[in-house]
Amino acid sequence: MRAATPADVPDIAALYVAREGGEVGEASLGVTSDLNRMAAVADRWVCVAHVDGRFAGYGRAKLRPGSPGVPEGWFLLGVVVEPGARRRGVARALTEARFAWLVARGVTEVRSFVSAQNRASLALHHATGFEEVRRGDVVPGVTFTGGVGVLLRRSLP
Ligand SMILES: CC(C)(COP(=O)(O)OP(=O)(O)OC[C@H]1O[C@@H](n2cnc3c(N)ncnc32)[C@H](O)[C@@H]1OP(=O)(O)O)[C@@H](O)C(=O)NCCC(=O)NCCS
Repeated sequence: MRAATPADVPDIAALYVAREGGEVGEASLGVTSDLNRMAAVADRWVCVAHVDGRFAGYGRAKLRPGSPGVPEGWFLLGVVVEPGARRRGVARALTEARFAWLVARGVTEVRSFVSAQNRASLALHHATGFEEVRRGDVVPGVTFTGGVGVLLRRSLP
């Protein structure tokens, strides 16, 4: 578990495209932009996991501006684990690594949002201490698979 570096861009982009679709080249530009902002502004953080020396997944944290009903603050976004590496604690470890990074910066709460249909993600959030804030059209401008989102929040020590 470690912070992502430019050498991780191909792995992250390939996994992103496998889940979201689109083109690897475009995804690589997005990941590179994230890593540049991570280094220059520190308004986001990307970490990667390896299992037995092989890339196993990534997770992001990002400072989002406020929007109606959702205060400005840090969000966990986009944890994705390689299908062959799932149910081995990788996402939990990526989540705890992001908690640790945020705590080291004095952040005291973190939010997240997921589709209500994503049972694995919801279970992961509950397993890592998140509590539901509300369901529905929870984040302006964000649409969810199935139409219903879940906004979650967790206090950090
Ligand atoms: C959701 C996802 C990130 C979980 O990754 P993972 O590495 O398999 O998760 P972990 O092994 O760390 O699981 C931690 C806990 O989360 C819960 N969990 C994870 N996957 C689950 C599943 N498929 N069904 C039910 N609970 C699940 C469990 O409580 C689990 O603890 P346990 O294994 O002790 O029961 C993975 O399935 C994935 O990449 N899915 C596609 C992308 C996605 O939906 N990302 C989240 C929204 S952006």
